[in-house]
Formats: sequence, structure tokens, C-alpha cells
Amino acid sequence: MLGEGARTVADAERYEKVYAEAIHGVGKAMPSRPDMRGPQTGHGVSVKLSALSPRYEATHEARVWEELYPRVKRLALIAASYDINFCMDAEEADRLALSLKLLDRLANDPDLGEWKGLGLAVQAYQKRAPEVIARVAALAETSGRRIMVRLVKGAYWDTEIKRAQVMGRPDYPVFTTKAATDLNYLVCAQAILDASPHLYGQFATHNATSLAAVHYMANRAGVKMEFQRLHGMGEALYDAAAEMWGAEKIVVRGYAPVGGHEELLPYLVRRLLENGANSSFVHALLDERIPASTVAADPIADVEAHPDRHAKIPTPKDMYMDRQNSLGRDYSQSADRERHALALAEVDSEKFNSGPLIGGRLQAGTDPQDVTNPLDRHQVLGHVSEATPAEIDTALNAAAKAQVAWDRKGGAGRAPILRAMADALEADMDRLIALLAREAGKTLNDGVAEVREAADFCRYYAMLAERDFGGREELKGPVGEINQLVLHGRGIFACISPWNFPLAIFTGQIAAALAAGNAVLAKPAEQTPLIAAEAVRLFHKAGLHPDLLALVPGRGETVGATLVSHPAIDGVAFTGGTDTAYAINRAIAARPGAIIPFIAETGGLNGMFVDSTALREQVIDDVINSAFGSAGQRCSALRIVYVPKEGADALIEGLKGALAVQVVGDPTDPATDIGPVIDAESRALLEAHVARLRKEAKVIARATLPSGSERGDLFAPTIAEIPTPDFLEREVFGPILHIYRYEPKDLKTVASKLAARGYGLTLGVHSRIEAFAEEVIRLVPAGNVYINRSITGAVVGVQPFGGEGLSGTGPKAGGPNSLIRYAAEKAISNNISAQGGDPALLNL
Ligand code: FDA
Repeated sequence: MLGEGARTVADAERYEKVYAEAIHGVGKAMPSRPDMRGPQTGHGVSVKLSALSPRYEATHEARVWEELYPRVKRLALIAASYDINFCMDAEEADRLALSLKLLDRLANDPDLGEWKGLGLAVQAYQKRAPEVIARVAALAETSGRRIMVRLVKGAYWDTEIKRAQVMGRPDYPVFTTKAATDLNYLVCAQAILDASPHLYGQFATHNATSLAAVHYMANRAGVKMEFQRLHGMGEALYDAAAEMWGAEKIVVRGYAPVGGHEELLPYLVRRLLENGANSSFVHALLDERIPASTVAADPIADVEAHPDRHAKIPTPKDMYMDRQNSLGRDYSQSADRERHALALAEVDSEKFNSGPLIGGRLQAGTDPQDVTNPLDRHQVLGHVSEATPAEIDTALNAAAKAQVAWDRKGGAGRAPILRAMADALEADMDRLIALLAREAGKTLNDGVAEVREAADFCRYYAMLAERDFGGREELKGPVGEINQLVLHGRGIFACISPWNFPLAIFTGQIAAALAAGNAVLAKPAEQTPLIAAEAVRLFHKAGLHPDLLALVPGRGETVGATLVSHPAIDGVAFTGGTDTAYAINRAIAARPGAIIPFIAETGGLNGMFVDSTALREQVIDDVINSAFGSAGQRCSALRIVYVPKEGADALIEGLKGALAVQVVGDPTDPATDIGPVIDAESRALLEAHVARLRKEAKVIARATLPSGSERGDLFAPTIAEIPTPDFLEREVFGPILHIYRYEPKDLKTVASKLAARGYGLTLGVHSRIEAFAEEVIRLVPAGNVYINRSITGAVVGVQPFGGEGLSGTGPKAGGPNSLIRYAAEKAISNNISAQGGDPALLNL
């Protein structure tokens, strides 16, 4: 059955019904001749498990047993009642472990009687495939149930490569050369044949070499098996095989995808891409310029000649070439979940201390406060005290002295410390993620993204420091002169960061200022001083002179105000609300002395425009992720999605259903999608906004909160329909998605109304029509535009981040121009003619 996987419970129910009907249909159409019945010779049905549950994910295992298993079992029972083949298709690699657990339980389920039609597809492009086959063979033997194994090479290769790169995995779960996949196919085929009669081999391929080799191997072993091909493909190949091996009579099963045209389109595109790929057998076969010996090359010889990974597919760590990519975590893997549980236990047994960290030492400060967990305000995580004006002066004096030597080191001298900081962040990753969850309510995946971004900032700015601060750059000019430009640090930067990225933005601002040759006084947000203190300690541990970076926690109106109006400050980097940015701007303007740079990243009123050609499942995924990820507490988060009137009902139903299966709750639990909001004040503002929506708009869905939510600041994520495209005057910072239905003919007016609000941070477009995307981009200003993807999660050096208009001053963070405003430029012009002449000219 075609389909892109369920996004809602209603989708899953619909797919189950369709599958059940199909199995009944196939079962009833079975010929009555006994030799044409049974799972081997008769027909069968394949199921895609992701269609039967909106959360077929390793981190949602409990739900898998409650919801998915009963569904698969109901379908398997119907298949068993007709004694037909029932195969579970293979999907993405992170679902493999779950599919094996499901197979395990099904194989051992006595309700399925003596039935021998249960099957699983195994992908040979996965490095684990031989182990999977060994495990399935052992299961078949111990359960006494013969299992049918369809061996494929795999249909999600590019997705796996991309996912591993995006997630910063140590390596890929799949091979990177085609020959390795082809060879693994043969290794797996032999293992399946060896496991006969416990396993029944079903070899799905359109590759003549794979087909011939498996045919030979099966004959040699004297084992019965079948081939499989896709409907409409491989006909000529199998006709030729039948002709050639006529006497041996090969069995070929056709696999016919079934579905409506909407589901067919993405499937067709995948097939076209697969067959059109240079590496594809079908592609090579049809290309007359490729000799037969190459088309039918021996994979063993190929792998022996080129045993290494593909030259153009380095490991995710090395993918950027000019810098190291950060390492991630994958909580679909139990090893990563276990690491997290250990780190969390350690963090919970600690009491954290934050306060003024000056010269590397914690000072007394003033006004000590408890720092509590936003999920449970009764849990005290540690304490923080505020920096006093005298402590700020001490820190500034020390910083001024240390900065001179730091600046003189140049980019090449500073870069190793930034890289050491990146390594230190990665080494402490699990502990930092646990603390981020406790102090800032970050889910585990948000925590991973946060630590990775911090590490990426350090490595990227280290690279920029080497590039831009490497000494004097010669400029072109008339003869008889040497003209040079050199960048250097400005002095001391005040870095004021927000609670929503308490590690990434905090570290990013500091790393940029340091890379450019400055010293830093960093003021974290009031809500997240603990993680900030950990970051500062890590910088010092990484080798940074403690006087170059002081932590000065405290309130905006006290510490923040002192910093930005202090005459010893040479620049301010700020990320936070637009109103605070105005206040800082005024304070800086009122300062006597030098006019200093003010780098501000502020809020946004971010929209996404969807047209009727967009893919429903993709839109649902990206809207939910962009609006509710990080509890909507990202400046880049989606606030308003504009959906075309035609088809709006179906899409909105999908969004409501997808919100209903989001898990709101404890961010330390790998199953949680949405954690608490940052504090009671924030929650109250969001509730007040919901009250306004109830009066002036229409609240159409709210997620349910778990019991005990009153202990902290969980807020029920909300979807509302708004009556006008510019209903929102300003950013509402939390998990509230607004939907506006528009008439396509009014696109210009609608988009212009959003633009008129003056923000310009992120913008999303979902469409398969390029002209539509171009028009939206023209109409709505934005510093970051995302097409057919989520609008959050900018990656350092890949999507330099920052807005325009009310959304920020630039330069973008994590971009090639990031360091320029942290630096001062000096042009040096030397009239060498004054020494008597230009030797270079005279010696021409
Ligand atoms: P061919 O010899 O051209 O091999 C293509 C394979 O090589 C692909 O898997 C591709 O990813 C891989 N490849 C290409 N470049 C590579 C590189 N640089 N490094 C490593 N590998 C590389 N798929 C799936 O995932 N789950 C399923 O359940 C099914 N079910 C199914 C049933 C039937 C009956 C068929 C015929 C096919 C499937 N498939 C599938 C799809 C199947 O995975 C896909 O059609 C095959 O991979 C094509 O393999 P061939 O041997 O025909 O082609």
C-alpha cells in the first residue's frame, strides 16, 4: 500500500482498514488449486509499519506495544486465516530494532497457529544486515515458525546518508559504495540460503548480476526460493532469465504498489530517482555507452579493488572539509538513552553553583537565589548570586589587561583554544544535555542541538579567526606605497544572552567576541545561570586565560544596565526581545565617549506559506516541528501558517491529529516532544493570549497535559485559526500555532500584511512550484528562508542565522561575516618612496 506513513491516529486507523480489506481481497481471490495456495506459491500482502502508527519510533516503544502491535497482529491474523504471505517492509534504519522486536513477538504469538507466511524485508545496504539475518534465523528456529525473508538492497539510501550527517553520527548505518551493497547482498543471500528451511528466501532485485549469482548459489545449495520484482520493472530481465534457465523454472513474485494518485506521486519520484541514479543497474543497463562487462561487474572484485568508503562521502564528522562537524546523539539507540540516564542521575545528585566568576573564581555576589526546574518548581537545582557593580569593575579591569596579549596572538593563536572548547563541550555533552533539560526545560533532542551548535560556533569562529585575523592584508594601490588592512579586537565585549538558547547563543556570542580578539563579560539570562557557569568553567578548562572571560549573572535592570552603559565596554552583543534591544540601544546612545557597536538578534513574526501542491505529510511534520519544537520558544519558531482555502480542512485536521500525538511533559524523558515553558510569567502571558484567541479568533486544538503539570510551567500547546492575516501584532513566544486560510488570488495582500508588521526573521514556503516560492520570498522580508522544510534549526556555517528589520541588526551568527562587527579595522599606508624609492618598481 502506498502512503507516506501515518501522522495521526485517524491516518493509522484508515491504513489498517485499507490493509485489512486488501488482505481479505487477496485471500478471497486465492485460486482453489491446492498447489497454488499457501504463502509460498500464493499471493501476499506487504505492510509498511509506519502507516499503522503515527509514532513508530524507538523512543515511543510503549506506544508501539499499545497501538502498533495490536494493529499488526490483527492484520497478521487475517493473513494467517487465508494462509498467505504477510511481509513487513523495511523502512529507515532507526526503525530496524523495533521491527525486529515486533517480528519476535509475532513469531512467538500462539494465536498465529502454525501459519508460515510471516515475513520481513531486510536491506542489504545496511551494514547490520548479516546480523539481522542471523537473528531472524535464530528466531525462526526457536519459535518453530518458518520466516520469509525478502532481501532487498534498500530504498532509503540518500535519506540515511543525510540523516547521519544532520545528526552528527560517528558513521553511516549504510555502505557508501554501491559495490559494497552488492557484495553484502550476496553475503546476506548466502546466509538466508544457509538458514533454510527456517528461512525462506525472497530475493528482490532488478540487477542481472545479483539475480544470476543468487540463482547459482541457491542451485548449488539445492534450496527452493523465489525472486521478486516491482510491477512494471525488470520484466525483460526475468523473461530472459526464464528463457535461459527454462528447465530450472524460476519463481518470480511481482510486487505491485496500490494507492491513489496522491500517494503514487512520491513513490514514482523515488523510483525515478533510484533508476536514474548513475549507480543504478537499470540506468547502466540502458546506457549503450557502458560496456556489458561494467554493467555486470563482479562486486567482489570491485570491493577488493576499492575497499574504502566512497571518496566523496566522508564520515559526518569530516563532511565540512574546512572544520570538524559536531558529534550528536541518537536516542533511537538504546546506548545513547542509557548514557543519558546515567548523566541525568549524576546531575540530579549535584547542587550547582553560579554567580560572578571573575578571574576563574566564584565571587560572593549579592542577592542569592534558588534556581529551580521549570517542570517542577519544588526541585532546587542550585543557586545563583548576582554580580555587584564593584565585581563588574574588577572583572573589567582584569579583562582590559588580558585582552592586549590575547589580541596580539592573532587568529592562529586564538583558534586552538576555541577548538579545545568545542572538544570540551562534546566531552561533556550528556551532562550538559541533562542540565539543559533540568534548568531550561529542553527536550533531549533540543539539548543535543544546543550543545552541537555551541561546539559548531567554536570551531567555525576558530576557522574565521585564522582566515580574517591572520595578519596584514595587502591592498592594491599606486607604486611607491604599501597599503595594508588589518583586523583586531575592539577591547571588551558585553555579551547578553537569552534563556531559550542558554548554551548555544551564550557560547556563540562569547566565541565570536573572543575569536576577534576581545575579552568578554557575559551576562546570562536570569532563568539559566547554571548552564552559563558550566560553559564559562569549560572555556577556562579549555585553556582560556580566566581574565578574558568573566561571568556576571544578574537582572537586566541591574547588571545588564550597568554593563551596557559602562565606559569600559567596547561593544555589546545581545540576543533577546525587541523591546530590550531598544532599551540597550538607548543606553548605548546615552553613553559618553566612543560610539560602540551593538549587535542585536531579536524576535520575529514568522510565517509559512503553503500552496495546494505541497505534500501533506511533509507540511504536517514541518509545521509541528517549527511551531511546537522547543515548546515554540525559539525566535525562529513558526507563528502563523497560511494555508490555501481549498484543501485547508484536510490539512488542519492533519495538524490537529499530529498535535494530539505529541507528548508534552518531562523533557528528560526521551519520549517527550514538548517540555515546559520557561517560567510562570511566560506561561501566564501565553494563557492570556489563548484567552484573547478564544474571544477574537477560534481555538481549534490544545494538547493534553500530563498529571502533575501544576507543579511547574507546562503549557498546553495550542492551535488557533485567526480571522485576519495580521491578527498578531507581535511575537507570542511559546507553543501556539496560528492558522490563516487564504484565497490564492489574495496571496499578495495577505503576505504584504504580514510584511507590514516590520519583522524579518524566518519565513517558510511549502510548494512544489518554484514561482510560488519566489513570489512569497519577494513579498515577505526575512533573514532566513526555508523551502519545503522546517523553519527552525539553523546550522552554523550552513544556514547563517539572523534577521532584518525589527528582527536584528546583523551580521548573521554562524556566517562568513560574523566576526566583522566584533573587530576594529586599521589601514596602514606606508609611503616607501620617502625612503628613496620603490625597489619593486625600480627592479621590474
Ligand atoms: P541496483 O543493483 O541498481 O542497486 C541499487 C541499490 O544500491 C540501492 O539500494 C541503492 O541505495 C544502493 N546504492 C546505490 N549507490 C550506493 C552507494 N554509493 N553506496 C551504497 N549503496 C548504494 N526497499 C526497501 O527499503 N524496503 C522494502 O521493503 C522494499 N521492498 C521491495 C520489494 C521488491 C519486490 C523490490 C523489487 C524492491 C523493494 N525495495 C524495498 C526497493 C529496493 O530496495 C530497490 O528497488 C533496490 O534497492 C534496487 O536494487 P537492485 O538490485 O534492483 O538495483
